Amino acid sequence: MVWQRFGRVKVYIEPFFGSGAVFINCPYDNQRAIINDLDGYVVNFWRAIKLEPDVVYEWSQWLASELDLVARQRWMMKNKDDFLGHMRNDPNYYDLKVAGWWAWGMSTWIGAGWCEEQVGDNRLPACGTGAGVHSQRCTIAFFRALAEKFKRTIILCGSWNRCVSHAITAHYPNSGIFLDPPYSPNECDPNTYRIKGNNDVAVECREWCLEHGTNRDLRIALCGYEGEHEMPDDWECLAWKSHGGMGAARARSSGRYTNNVRERIWFSPGCLTPGLALWD
Ligand SMILES: C[S@@+](CC[C@H](N)C(=O)[O-])C[C@H]1O[C@@H](n2cnc3c(N)ncnc32)[C@H](O)[C@@H]1O
Repeated sequence: MVWQRFGRVKVYIEPFFGSGAVFINCPYDNQRAIINDLDGYVVNFWRAIKLEPDVVYEWSQWLASELDLVARQRWMMKNKDDFLGHMRNDPNYYDLKVAGWWAWGMSTWIGAGWCEEQVGDNRLPACGTGAGVHSQRCTIAFFRALAEKFKRTIILCGSWNRCVSHAITAHYPNSGIFLDPPYSPNECDPNTYRIKGNNDVAVECREWCLEHGTNRDLRIALCGYEGEHEMPDDWECLAWKSHGGMGAARARSSGRYTNNVRERIWFSPGCLTPGLALWD
């Protein structure tokens, strides 16, 4: 439903990339994109998959097993500072094993905390969901196709607002901006995300949207929970339901799984109206 409202845009901008579900499902070939996430593991995954998808795929394929989950989490935590230091200091650096294990852990760990918290001796894996790297869709061909998607992509690792600065929006009029910030702290468990900050990023995003929503050259989508944002009447509000992946994991970890029926996306007036557009 996002791409129906964005169409083929000059540049697609996703400042809170996470697992990149929307971009991965972009129906257009060679869509130019700027993606960003504060989390170095996310960026490592995408650096690695862009250059060596087959090897990342091999590292990602493993059983959903409790002992491996505990041991790999400890190993990732022990090496975290070194790893993030390399990521930040060397633009060419990526770690294939970390990329594969990160994707495996994101698909196997229940809730938030993968690569973030210390664990005890036990940790139940999410073996029933068949999500992410455990899904039937996840083949080596799928990983290669992911790499293709990134051919015309710029990957940033910093604060979200750098991607939507005036310099970028003025340089790329007709851009599609997909904002999926962490939920407001009062909407979920503060431990839901690995990256923690004092600011309520969701509020900052809403303010940015209110300021830029009147610009018809921009197609903006803002994600949140029902009632989290109050947007002007000319913004379209759509309900959707997360069945799996990061959205469901977030909801589970907040202890409010029923929140998945509260998911909303607000689309700015510059977006296309599905069914009415004769061209993009
Ligand atoms: C709700 S998730 C995005 C989910 C994503 N749409 C997907 O398909 O998986 C939010 C992401 O924003 C990142 N993040 C949190 N605060 C941020 C900030 N201030 N700037 C950039 N990224 C941030 C987190 O690391 C996390 O990956």
